[in-house]
Amino acid sequence: MSENIVHFEIKNKKAYLQINRPNALNALNKNVLTEIRDCCEILKDNKQIQVLIVSGSGDKSFVAGADIKELQELHNQNKEGENFSQWGAEIFSKLEQLPQITIARVQGFALGGGLELALACDFIIASEKARFSLPEVTLGLIPGFSGTQRLAKRIGSAKAIEWIVTAERYSATEALACGLVNHVVKSEDLIAFTEQIAEKIIKNAPLAVKTAKKVIQASEDSTFKEGCDIESKHFGLLLNQSESAEGISAFIEKRPAQF
Ligand code: CAA
Repeated sequence: MSENIVHFEIKNKKAYLQINRPNALNALNKNVLTEIRDCCEILKDNKQIQVLIVSGSGDKSFVAGADIKELQELHNQNKEGENFSQWGAEIFSKLEQLPQITIARVQGFALGGGLELALACDFIIASEKARFSLPEVTLGLIPGFSGTQRLAKRIGSAKAIEWIVTAERYSATEALACGLVNHVVKSEDLIAFTEQIAEKIIKNAPLAVKTAKKVIQASEDSTFKEGCDIESKHFGLLLNQSESAEGISAFIEKRPAQF
């Protein structure tokens, strides 16, 4: 990770990816996006790491969007804009499909590509000072890293249209009210609270946790019936694993399970 613009660290079944361009409010330039992609490559086959926490450095900003100075270079370059959008969307898709549970820890601005990054994580934990917006229309653009799709899925299309076409900035409590974020906590508690959630996850049976994510995500591309069939199949697969043998025995023997 040459310029150190993304810090990547692994500690006790958890990985931490922190974007580190505080002077540009952690804007996503091509180097940052490449490093996020490289981190996803490291994580995708890793069975030890169960949780990934994504954050931005400094107090002010999670990520203030794609790097607008780089976008200027793409102006009028035929298909370069479309290619750039597709490239970023593919990286966020890799992040979304990681086997780990991914948490966006948002302490400040999550704007444009920054909100799109948070939306590609499984859920968002925000500080009370976090601010959310997809302001691309103020630049003559629309969200380009799948924000039109993921925001609509998360908060419904009527709200997503209003958010995107007004470019309004929303507070953490407003984001909580519409289901964009799972929790809002005091700024000074954000790191500890996110750790507590991560610790709860890593205490549970790892294969079951990974399978739960996979099966819930399958519902996006399937009918209710197909989703239930996928659930039953995986429930059966898990019942044949040593992990569930241990979990069930531990309950019956009244002792903590050892996963
Ligand atoms: N790209 C590049 N640089 C950015 C940036 C961005 N998205 N956001 C902030 N910066 C830079 C500023 O240029 C400034 O750098 P200099 O000191 O070198 O001038 C530095 O970060 C600090 O920013 P400000 O001086 O603007 O700080 P502020 O407190 O006055 O305002 C802000 C903060 C409201 C977040 C404001 O910076 C802002 O509106 N940023 C842009 C937000 C935005 O439009 N994001 C969408 C980008 S497009 C996109 O993301 C497309 C997509 O979907 C893929």
